[in-house]
Amino acid sequence: MKLTQFLLKNSSIPKQALVDRFSKFSPSPLSMKQFIDFGSANACEKTSFVFLRQELPVRLANIMKEIDFLPDKLLGTPSLQLLQSWYATSLMELVGFLEKDADDKTILKKFTETLVNVRNRHNNVVPTMAQGVVEYKEAFGSDPVTNQNVQYFLDRFYMSRISTRMLMNQHSLIFDGSANPAHPKHIGTIDPDCDVTEVVKDAFDSSKMLCEQYYLTSPEIDITQVNAKGPDQPLRIVYVPSHLYHMLFELFKNAMRATVETHEMALHLPPVKVRVSLGSEDLTIKISDRGGGVPLRKIERLFSYMYSTAPSPVDIDNSRNAPLAGFGYGLPISRLYAKYFQGDLQLYSMEGYGTSAVIYLKALSSDSVERLPVYNQSAIRHYQTSNEADDWCMPSKDPKKLGKYERRSQEV
Ligand SMILES: Nc1ncnc2c1ncn2[C@@H]1O[C@H](COP(=O)(O)OP(=O)(O)O)[C@@H](O)[C@H]1O
Ligand SMILES: [Mg+2]
Repeated sequence: MKLTQFLLKNSSIPKQALVDRFSKFSPSPLSMKQFIDFGSANACEKTSFVFLRQELPVRLANIMKEIDFLPDKLLGTPSLQLLQSWYATSLMELVGFLEKDADDKTILKKFTETLVNVRNRHNNVVPTMAQGVVEYKEAFGSDPVTNQNVQYFLDRFYMSRISTRMLMNQHSLIFDGSANPAHPKHIGTIDPDCDVTEVVKDAFDSSKMLCEQYYLTSPEIDITQVNAKGPDQPLRIVYVPSHLYHMLFELFKNAMRATVETHEMALHLPPVKVRVSLGSEDLTIKISDRGGGVPLRKIERLFSYMYSTAPSPVDIDNSRNAPLAGFGYGLPISRLYAKYFQGDLQLYSMEGYGTSAVIYLKALSSDSVERLPVYNQSAIRHYQTSNEADDWCMPSKDPKKLGKYERRSQEV
């Protein structure tokens, strides 16, 4: 009897055994080309099924191993308990397909249904996790080491989630038998000819609508595109338009809010400037506002999950009331979307003037490969850094001590 069969038949065997087993495999990152091959004319549902029934448990197990490194008191919150139960149930459901006959059409159909169930079960992972972090922070405070570990973990955890949702969406969209009438050329969620400027305009328009609802005014957009192939040629890349839209929408909401709030008394709002440029390696989008900027010292914490003001459950339901700003996850999650296919998102600010947010994406689909966390010794080491003294001197807070020799407070 194979190990998995044995584990499944013996429900008394803790789920931990499954997690241990699957976390020993490294996730296999897919390239855009592979995603497209899975969905092309000769796409094979069976091949996709055989890949996913192994790969999804591997990705889930890899990240479940890292959950264990969170502080015990965070793991003990009801939110984290709930979240772990979702992951365990989904892992069990997916592993249940390992010994099934891949030539049986009803099995393939059941698998697609299971993927949809798993995806729905995990819909609220982000606010639930955020809620747990806030509960923990309120009850026990936070220190730099915990902050660092939680940040490291959540970037990996949310990236893992983006990737598993991508896999599940692709399979269920491609093999549910119905074409996408609105976008016949799309392959699942991927647009092989994604017109970047179109997505920029869509995201801007949605953000503008929210901004007007909330502030009764909104800045205009001033958009310029630079294409080596010619000024009026559309800038096209192989990409997931919903991911791009997500990032742009978040950046526009931030830019508009900052613009309106710093120019409250002005008759005319400075426009949000957008530059889109396609080179041989990068597709770059720069969004610049004149919303007053942010001091350099604070830039890093804008990407911090621990600094954010996560919602109480009431706020989640009432999120319509605060349309332009959420609970501070806009930037960190957008940066993950950018990094997912080897891009990045950076903020450059001039305090007193404004901010530029830059999205970097890979211009070539051969460079767009999933960026995935893997559970290994280096990951473990990250969680084990202890509270050591900084290796840069701290300025003395007590001015009377200036100029006097201080004894080292911590022995080296
Ligand atoms: N363009 C910008 N200009 C000034 N401040 C900004 C800008 N973008 C982001 N910020 C600051 O960063 C914070 C975090 O942004 P974000 O992650 O989108 O979360 P949220 O908008 O939900 O607060 C914002 O609340 C705001 O204070
Ligand atoms: Mg925001």
